[in-house]
Amino acid sequence: MSMLSVRDVSYIYQSKYQSIEAVRHVSCVFESGKLYAVTGPSGSGKSTLLSLLAGLDLPTSGEILVEGKSMASLDRDQYRREIASVVYQSFNLFPLLTALENVIYPMELLGKKKPEAVEIAMQLIGEVGLGEKTYQQFPIMMSGGEQQRVAIARALAAGGKILLADEPTGNLDSANEKNVVELLRTLAHKQGYLVIVITHNPYVAEQADAVYRMRDGELQTDGRA
Ligand SMILES: Nc1ncnc2c1ncn2[C@@H]1O[C@H](COP(=O)(O)OP(=O)(O)O)[C@@H](O)[C@H]1O
Ligand SMILES: [Mg+2]
Repeated sequence: MSMLSVRDVSYIYQSKYQSIEAVRHVSCVFESGKLYAVTGPSGSGKSTLLSLLAGLDLPTSGEILVEGKSMASLDRDQYRREIASVVYQSFNLFPLLTALENVIYPMELLGKKKPEAVEIAMQLIGEVGLGEKTYQQFPIMMSGGEQQRVAIARALAAGGKILLADEPTGNLDSANEKNVVELLRTLAHKQGYLVIVITHNPYVAEQADAVYRMRDGELQTDGRA
């Protein structure tokens, strides 16, 4: 059974004066253990699709299934807290918390005991390739690549199985970009996460197991899916 199945999903932004069909009749599946890239021109509906996959909103029509269960029937707050996490181009770390505290934060929300949360946070920081000296650093003291790694560690801290990333390397230089893509691949291939990355970057798309291209809200696959 697919981790996520998108079935004939459309999404319309409705305002008083206009309606914009940002996603049109999209159908696709996403399997655990794979890295997917979603590409396409600006305004083609990529971020809207990602927000539907993240459970931030429900489709206007069609449905998204999570391991066979309709998203509409799930507790979406719980889905967002415990199953799917999103990483953004701008990292969005809490500036007044250290790297370690940033990673601990989602676990505290879930009611994990502090010593256990600290231990898991240290482990995750190691898994994303950062050293102990990072623990006490504030975001402003870290490079973009390091901040993005901390953001990924924080996204994983809730223990979910789905990692969604909207242009995660958009603010990184090419060396850091390569490292972050390698990390995302490892998380998918070695640890079994479903990783979905929106990207404009041909290198990132090349590293993915499958590429979905969006155009005017519609989705095409490249045959590798
Ligand atoms: N909050 C919103 N309200 C109204 N229209 C929106 C909103 N967000 C995005 N759109 C429109 O939906 C379409 C798809 O946007 P988006 O999903 O952000 O595309 P992409 O991420 O590919 O650039 C665009 O026409 C955009 O202007
Ligand atoms: Mg976007």
